[in-house]
Amino acid sequence: MTIRGIAYGGDYNPEQWPREVWAEDVALMQRAGVNLVTVGVFAWSRIQSGPGQFDLGWIDEVLDLLYDGGIRVDLATATASPPSWLVAAHPEMLPVRADGVRLGPGSRQHFCPSSPAYRAAALELVAVLADRYRDHPALELWHIGNEYGCHVPACHCEVSQTAFRAWLRARYGDDLAALNSAWGTDFWSQRITAWDEIRTPAAAPTFLNPTLQLDFARFSSGELLGCYRAERDVLAARSPGMPATTNLMTFFRPVDSWSFAPYMDVQSVDCYPDPADPAAHLTMAAAGDITRSLGGGQPWILMEQAPAAVNWRFVNVPKAPGQLRELSLTAVARGSDGILQFQWRASVAGAEKFHSGMVPHAGTDTRVFREVEALGRDLAALAPVAGTRVTADVAILLDWESWWALELEAHPSGYVWWVITFQHLYAALFDAHVTVDVAHPAADLSGYRLVIAPHIYLVSDAAAENLTTFVRSGGTALVTYFSGIVDPDDHVRPGSYPAPWKDLLGLHVEEHWPLAEGATDLLGGTLAGPSASASLWREQVHLHGAEPLLTFGSAPLAGSPAATRHAYGDGLAVYLATWPDRETLASLLAWTCERARVRPVLDAPAGVEAVRRGDVLFLINHTAEPTAVDLPEPGRDLLSGRSLSGRITLAPRDAVALVGVADVPADLVGTVHGDGPVAGAAGDLRRRIEDLPDGRRRTSYRRGLDRRP
Ligand code: GAL
Repeated sequence: MTIRGIAYGGDYNPEQWPREVWAEDVALMQRAGVNLVTVGVFAWSRIQSGPGQFDLGWIDEVLDLLYDGGIRVDLATATASPPSWLVAAHPEMLPVRADGVRLGPGSRQHFCPSSPAYRAAALELVAVLADRYRDHPALELWHIGNEYGCHVPACHCEVSQTAFRAWLRARYGDDLAALNSAWGTDFWSQRITAWDEIRTPAAAPTFLNPTLQLDFARFSSGELLGCYRAERDVLAARSPGMPATTNLMTFFRPVDSWSFAPYMDVQSVDCYPDPADPAAHLTMAAAGDITRSLGGGQPWILMEQAPAAVNWRFVNVPKAPGQLRELSLTAVARGSDGILQFQWRASVAGAEKFHSGMVPHAGTDTRVFREVEALGRDLAALAPVAGTRVTADVAILLDWESWWALELEAHPSGYVWWVITFQHLYAALFDAHVTVDVAHPAADLSGYRLVIAPHIYLVSDAAAENLTTFVRSGGTALVTYFSGIVDPDDHVRPGSYPAPWKDLLGLHVEEHWPLAEGATDLLGGTLAGPSASASLWREQVHLHGAEPLLTFGSAPLAGSPAATRHAYGDGLAVYLATWPDRETLASLLAWTCERARVRPVLDAPAGVEAVRRGDVLFLINHTAEPTAVDLPEPGRDLLSGRSLSGRITLAPRDAVALVGVADVPADLVGTVHGDGPVAGAAGDLRRRIEDLPDGRRRTSYRRGLDRRP
């Protein structure tokens, strides 16, 4: 992108406003420091009034106005809401739900992703837009579709039935025997004798075939990717060199974000934590870490967040004063180069008229607009971080295929959810000031010191071996219960659990023993405090090489292991066979991080976010109280322009972005002097002191690659 510094703006829907407002919009955008807006996301019916009838004059005008005002454009392909004339001509493009109900127009995203009529019309529109605007100087980025899968993640219409069968024929090499074997169709007499018998998993008397459901999840995500890629191909051919993205959603199970990532020139995400949720900042931080990881560490864009309230919860609490800034800074700290909101000006008509805008109904003499202007100034001050990266020593594994299979019904417990477990692990690491990436289980893990596998229930042979190799060559793994259970067909791997990781973990699991709803067990062992407890899950673990770190308290598992450690190759494998209380989880993670030589970014109170981006140390107080933090070295705060040293106190929701504070591992502060290698508890570090041209001194530490515990 050509924007220097952090992009700032939002969805801009001038089609909802008379022309007179457009000039005022540009003036207000300038006042607020806006430099990027997304134009036309839901403008298809204004752009095209019939077959071949395009009206682009108004977009020309809007783009010229914006450009003249110094504002760049993320131009939407406008394909997320097909116009009514198109639906009338092709009613078969309307999606059908699993219960057989065909969804009507009058809302949005009312298209079947497999519909040839929808795809052809969408691609024609994209071609027209690309030809018209590829050379427009305001164009910064193409914005393809909108939130793929939102509202309609899958379709069961007849077109989809045919497309699903074609997809299955390709997957199983036209071999019905292979499909029958993968789907285990001898169970409950489900044997398929001709391709045409196959239907998408819809309403049925009871549990549907799980592999049918898993394949349908793969197919449905793939069809959405197909829509995205088809548009991207048109843009690549007609607007070469112009980056393209789509706004993916935070923690959205139906769409495999890893499959989209390679086709996105810049990753982008929409994130709408509930402002009333005390963990709102964790949602934003995790969305950022995931989106950054999808792009291999490259800067990304927060494509949508609410300036204040949304309109789609039952009760829509606005962001508190300062919360827009707080969450935006979290996104920037975690690698975002763009902070965009939905939307620029609050609508007065339509289903979203009570959704906040950067310009509220009450106008500019408002709290929200003042905060919008202030955020523009803050982001301008953070220009030096644009383009810089965040690095992490820890990866949490995330695999949509495993997630789909994990949360199918009829499992030992309905309470094993990937997102919930991820959030608990993430929160504990966040409060310990440890930065994390997410990684696909089959990805190269060699750059990490610690890899956490939360409920990686479905695992391929290659991915299982990948984690084993990582530990063998010196890494530390923490595997949680209900991991390594099934193969990619969702068949239980033979033998005891977790079949592919028994040697790695030095144990096997004989029997799952989930705890009844609300029930708990006491935990004992070296890492257990006096009231350590377990809930949700237990299992009968037998050790062959591993040693217990936690044990269960009650019959019939009293004294048997609840968490274990096992030295394997040059590394360490930790297993967690239950869901411990928050403190015990924090102790287990602290113990594991120490063994893995994962160090906190800074020794700071919990609830104060500490993350490094490039040379800048971000500290953000997400607690409700003024909180003191001790700085290891003096630094200059990009946000306030002040030089800070020693003990600083951050007001609630306040933040600093410090330049000049060296990456000093917490356990080394004050213990090293001079250049050269640093020995001792912290291991193989090399210190480098540079005198910068502006007179400041920068000290940095490079960590060695030795990950042995
Ligand atoms: C998003 C969507 C936007 C807007 C927003 C409201 O899901 O992409 O168009 O509807 O929600 O919060």
